[in-house]
Amino acid sequence: MTDTKSNAMWGGRFAAGPDAIMEAINASIGFDQRLAQQDIDGSRAHAAMLAEQGIITPNDAKAIREGLLTVLSEIETGKFEFSVALEDIHMNVEARLKDLIGEPAGRLHTARSRNDQVAVDFRLWTRAQMDAVIEGIRALQHALLAQAKTGADWVMPGFTHLQTAQPVTWGHHMLAYVEMLGRDASRFEDARRRMNESPLGAAALAGTSFPIDRDMTAKALGFDRPAANSLDAVSDRDFALDFLGAASICAMHLSRLAEELVIWSSAQFRFVTLSDRFSTGSSIMPQKKNPDAAELIRAKIGRIFGANTALLMVMKGLPLTYSKDMQEDKEQVFDAADNLMLALAAMTGMVSDMAANRASLEKAAASGFSTATDLADWLVRTLDMPFRDAHHVTGALVKLAEDKGCDLPDLSLDDMQGVHADITADVFGVLGVHNSVASRTSYGGTAPDQVRIQISRWQEKLA
Ligand code: ARG
Repeated sequence: MTDTKSNAMWGGRFAAGPDAIMEAINASIGFDQRLAQQDIDGSRAHAAMLAEQGIITPNDAKAIREGLLTVLSEIETGKFEFSVALEDIHMNVEARLKDLIGEPAGRLHTARSRNDQVAVDFRLWTRAQMDAVIEGIRALQHALLAQAKTGADWVMPGFTHLQTAQPVTWGHHMLAYVEMLGRDASRFEDARRRMNESPLGAAALAGTSFPIDRDMTAKALGFDRPAANSLDAVSDRDFALDFLGAASICAMHLSRLAEELVIWSSAQFRFVTLSDRFSTGSSIMPQKKNPDAAELIRAKIGRIFGANTALLMVMKGLPLTYSKDMQEDKEQVFDAADNLMLALAAMTGMVSDMAANRASLEKAAASGFSTATDLADWLVRTLDMPFRDAHHVTGALVKLAEDKGCDLPDLSLDDMQGVHADITADVFGVLGVHNSVASRTSYGGTAPDQVRIQISRWQEKLA
């Protein structure tokens, strides 16, 4: 669409309108219409302040503020016709306001620029997303806590290098993710605190000669204070990068849990059964129940970290202050936010619905010589052996069991004494997985009692 008329908003010095390609590369209305609510909130606060300061009349402010609400309801009900020729959400809203109220609409942009306008809109949007993400994280933490409560003392193999290491409890494993997500939430909370300064009133870049009250608009929009440097205020996108950085780490955590669910739900593991609601079938193999949601969550880190990288690259080397490059900020954050919210919701559904298979977990926990460390510890405690020697003796016992094709508790006392003469029948007490986990009572350890302490702590924290 080529518009031959020069632009009504900034076309004073232009004889002709933009080329169609120019319009296509320049316009952001295709995506920044998502900022409509924030744009109108910001404009309404600005208009009220202009009137309060005697910069526009109370009547004009009233017409502007009411007209903006009409525009918002038109947008919300899908009646609004967005125009590419009007570039972005800011000019689309203002042009419609002019249709509705006439001349006073032209006074709204006094002491303001699209540079501080877009900065305030995008901050408000990102702030609301941070709150939504934190809520999504809390819901997932609750789902994990419920799993932890059910299986606080269920034993499963703990892995290092994805090799059986030591028995742990299901509750303990679930709580590991509760901890990760707790840090994720705190990263978003930190970012929110840091970003909560209002750029409104920075105008194009230098501030304004009008007697504006930046504290008033900051307060009206829920900011803690106005941003203290106008150049920084219009050119800062750290809040978006903070969001994407926190989102990347959170998505990375989700990908790890997703990967475990993929492994655990396989026929080879059978640690968990995913619900039908969060699984899919195969069009050719009737027996298949696939963990597609988990796989897609595992993949989301790709686009979310991609968005983080993309925006860092956009911002890299930009001279102060605003450059149009910065219009490329929004799609990255929108996409990352949408996908993180979806991933959190899907993970919450999957975790709430899944059933851990207690018997399979326990069977796996008892295999792979998982209590070898318990045996070594017994040698240290009972025979006063240095740990390094105990490690060596235990290694010989593991080798013996391996040769015999059995697990450690299946060795006879004779077998054991053949390796070390002082071993007594008492040793069998520590070779069972339940005794093993129950003994790990150090703070933060896997013993069911410790797990229950941590469950209570989290329940209080999230209450
Ligand atoms: N659509 C623009 C953006 O998203 C709004 C700010 C435009 N400012 C300007 N000086 N051209 O960044």
